[in-house]
Amino acid sequence: MKVAGRSTRTIWLHADGWSVEIIDQTQLPHRYTTARLTTLDEAAHAIRAMLVRGAPLIGATAAYGLCLALRKDASDETLAAAAKTLLATRPTAVNLRWALERMQTALLPLEPAQRPAAAYVLAAEICDEDVRLNEAIGTHGLELIRAIAAKKPPRARVNILTHCNAGWLATVDWGTALAPVYKAYDAGIPVHVWVDETRPRNQGASLTAWELGSHGVRHTVICDNAGGHLMQRGQVDLVIVGTDRTTAAGDVANKIGTYLKALAAKDCGVPFYVALPSPTIDWTIEDGVRDIPIEERDAREVSHIRGADTSGRITEVQLIPNGSSAANPAFDVTPARLVTGLITERGLCPATREGLRSLYPI
Ligand code: MRU
Repeated sequence: MKVAGRSTRTIWLHADGWSVEIIDQTQLPHRYTTARLTTLDEAAHAIRAMLVRGAPLIGATAAYGLCLALRKDASDETLAAAAKTLLATRPTAVNLRWALERMQTALLPLEPAQRPAAAYVLAAEICDEDVRLNEAIGTHGLELIRAIAAKKPPRARVNILTHCNAGWLATVDWGTALAPVYKAYDAGIPVHVWVDETRPRNQGASLTAWELGSHGVRHTVICDNAGGHLMQRGQVDLVIVGTDRTTAAGDVANKIGTYLKALAAKDCGVPFYVALPSPTIDWTIEDGVRDIPIEERDAREVSHIRGADTSGRITEVQLIPNGSSAANPAFDVTPARLVTGLITERGLCPATREGLRSLYPI
């Protein structure tokens, strides 16, 4: 997508041909800055500290993290140790495991001397593939939005609610949940997005709002508790969210609070769709509530909040009394029964085992 008129991805190779550049998402929306990753440890830190985040982008960054490790030492031992370090950075998004397994499977049979070059080729392929998959999700999701628009009076806006950031910043480009929104906007459909702020890290308020605004898409930031009310009042036509891991039976892990939106949508009869590229499907598990590991992050993300002060300086303030404890589960699981449908790169399907297998046969 475009930043200040320039086509930009979230991750790319530096002009030196080996180090890796990323957008430092911890500085948005106040500052657009990039960071350069030169070592495995820097790549692992970028994922852990959420300079990069979002399931597909975490996978792509991990792939380049392996490249950086192999540049120094391409032995079997380093490949295994680097993959272990990267895998431990964030537990919920399954794209991380998928990307590391894909890299290891391709690289292990090669002679060590061949591995660094092959790793860079494969990491670039993973990135390009992510862009293709997400654009296809956009094309399929567009039809959903077009159908809703067709039932409304001419030029009436289509109101879409989203949670967290599942836009291009969460992927290499296009995004998952927001890809259909960008396609609809580009097709001239009057879309408007309700953006959940998404406490505690505010990916909605800081990232989704920033990227929609940069593309010119009308949007309104709401506090996380407002969605149910807006649905009851008929002000939401459709909910689309992303996912960090979808089980073989269609249960969906996504940013904490997604489950509550799905419950409200069910109660109000609002369609609740989840957009995902196939690397986000974990075929090894069925029951997401039981089997998806939920990341527990630093309680400081709850007890404190970051923002820019009146002079534009990024600062942090404390919200809770000294001595109060805070807990920070970062994701929740929405059971498949609450999901109207899945939007994948191969089309739409019900959030069921059979639905997924109709698109991805064994
Ligand atoms: O903790 P984050 O910011 O990495 O969480 C991201 C999300 O929950 C996204 O909605 C999800 O990864 C889907 S992104 C295409």
